[in-house]
Amino acid sequence: MDMSVESIVKVGVEDRIIDLFEGMYKVPDGVTYNSYAVIGEKIAVIDSVDAHFSGEWLDNIENALGGKRPDYLIVQHMEPDHSGSVDAFVKKYPDAVVVGNSKTMVMLGEYFGAGFPQNILTVKDGETLDLGGRVLKFIFAPMVHWPEVMFTYDELSSTLFSADAFGSFGIDKEGWDDEARRYYIGIVGKYGVQVTAVLKKVSTLKIETVAPLHGQTLSGASLAHAIELYSKWAGYQPETEGVLVAYSSVYGHTKVAAELLYNELILRGVEVKIMDLARDDWAECVAQAFKYSKLVVATTTYNAAIFPAAREFIDRLVERNYKNRTVAFIENGTWAPVCAKLMRTQFEACKDITFAQTTVKIHSALSDESKAQVVALAEELSQQ
Ligand code: FEO
Repeated sequence: MDMSVESIVKVGVEDRIIDLFEGMYKVPDGVTYNSYAVIGEKIAVIDSVDAHFSGEWLDNIENALGGKRPDYLIVQHMEPDHSGSVDAFVKKYPDAVVVGNSKTMVMLGEYFGAGFPQNILTVKDGETLDLGGRVLKFIFAPMVHWPEVMFTYDELSSTLFSADAFGSFGIDKEGWDDEARRYYIGIVGKYGVQVTAVLKKVSTLKIETVAPLHGQTLSGASLAHAIELYSKWAGYQPETEGVLVAYSSVYGHTKVAAELLYNELILRGVEVKIMDLARDDWAECVAQAFKYSKLVVATTTYNAAIFPAAREFIDRLVERNYKNRTVAFIENGTWAPVCAKLMRTQFEACKDITFAQTTVKIHSALSDESKAQVVALAEELSQQ
């Protein structure tokens, strides 16, 4: 039996046919469902894959193990992108033991039927599993991003199997930050307190490699960079001092105002990004709002309310505990504009939001007066 550090084999699959991850996130570059065979005198497979790929995953295991049979299937996370093939595994390897915690076992019964599976090992936080020549330790990570989630630490290779944490969308993507940010903010962003807690919990471990359930494994400088970003994301701290200008525009007049603000900020040396809330990917808009320290929402009043693309954008920020940012508004309305006031009310559900003193009020199209307000807003945002 190979007892080297290299005796961790990737047996996961690539999903290039999925349209929407979790039924809502666009993944134009696909997504991986990672799975790992950890080989000691006994063999543990860590997590299964989406049910559409059961056959390919079982073939990967068989090929990786050269005819040997796994002794354990460790279930770190029950969301079906990872647990969807547990039943296929049990059918092929009925003597293998399924390892999870008490919450895992309840969910397995819910997904696959009461009493499933029969061969189980229920572990507690901090317990270990001796594979012979290497010992795996289970570290519970509740709400990262479901309550049953646990990490697995392999001391021999200093590898932390981190479930959804440190995961990213995409296959063969250059870089990690953008698709990891979109994944984290979208899917785990609400649970920053819990992510911070588990980062603290594992900080005493010697970790050379982090092996998540989506995307690339991380080590060396990439891992140090990822941990730095994760600490900011989990702490709701901006990555970048700068402004996201997020607009929606029915006939183009609000867009003109947003672009004027963008240009005025550029002139003042401010780092700025502009996005169209009705046309750009909503999850990327949300992720960029978390990236920057300041946000300007420019939109119109519609049905005596906020234009839907902007209202939904703010809803998604509020759901994810958006905080510690400066927020400003540009409102447009030909008659009875009320959206700036309504947007402010939406953001009042967030903690530690500083509202800019300047609100731009446009009646139909930019005027000299509203242009001056845009310039004043650019000046204010460049000073903070
Ligand atoms: Fe990748 Fe929470 O599942």
